[in-house]
Amino acid sequence: MRHLIRTDDFTKEEIEALLADAKEFSDGRFERILQDKIIITLFFENSTRTKSSFEIAAKRLGAEIVHLDVAKSSTKKGETLVDTAMNLDAMGPHAIIVRHQNAGVPKILSNHTKAAILNAGDGAHAHPSQALLDLYTLKDHFGDVSGKKIAIVGDIKNSRVANSNIELLTRFGMEVVLVAPPHFLPKTDLRTTHYLHDIIDEVDAIMSLRTQTERHSSQSYASLKDYASDFCITEELVGDRDIILLHPGPVHRNIDISDAMLEDKRCKVLQQVSNGVNIRMAILKKLIV
Ligand code: CP
Repeated sequence: MRHLIRTDDFTKEEIEALLADAKEFSDGRFERILQDKIIITLFFENSTRTKSSFEIAAKRLGAEIVHLDVAKSSTKKGETLVDTAMNLDAMGPHAIIVRHQNAGVPKILSNHTKAAILNAGDGAHAHPSQALLDLYTLKDHFGDVSGKKIAIVGDIKNSRVANSNIELLTRFGMEVVLVAPPHFLPKTDLRTTHYLHDIIDEVDAIMSLRTQTERHSSQSYASLKDYASDFCITEELVGDRDIILLHPGPVHRNIDISDAMLEDKRCKVLQQVSNGVNIRMAILKKLIV
């Protein structure tokens, strides 16, 4: 059984095929190829986009989807994560889609299930379906992304989205520059800067990230307002440059991206969400058909 824990679980050729499938699905060309399949969603952290779009993707392809409400599950009686997964697996689902606040949980569960485990985000480690939909969005705009330059901006150290995108986008030939205050930068061989103005004239795309306050042991930037004054993506910053803007959501308005920039046609945030359904259809097709 194949699982999707990290973007590097798939080869470049497999990802090209997955993006081609997603393109077909976006054109409305799909059938109920999962109509005999059952998929469980197991979310220990909140989600709007990932959970809903996996559910819509599964339904479009004809699968049955069962959501385990973690707050009302027997994990609250002390059942371990592995026992929870093994008991769900014993009911015969074809896939279990897992989000957990701790890095490594989907990988551990994948050692105990016959069902495919799909990582819907684990701590600050990985969010592979998000990076795949981001790559799809970039390729949809640019065609070939090789040689294009993207700035990833914000709380990179705590971001599973940044981790997965750095692996995937560099593999597809993009140059990634990390832009953040010092305490939001991970140890890296990539080019880094603390100043958006250093890179704004060079980049083809900006990926803004949410400040992950839930993963901070203490407030490590003076305040979100101070952060915004240096790192918010505004119309004034972008000007008339030919740059597209991405963000995985949820967006902190006027901290990550200004209201006006969210309305700008160069902002692809809602397009990313739409693309997410087609990418997740392609992932389900690849792993469980
Ligand atoms: N991008 C993303 O993971 O959004 P959700 O937390 O709403 O799923």
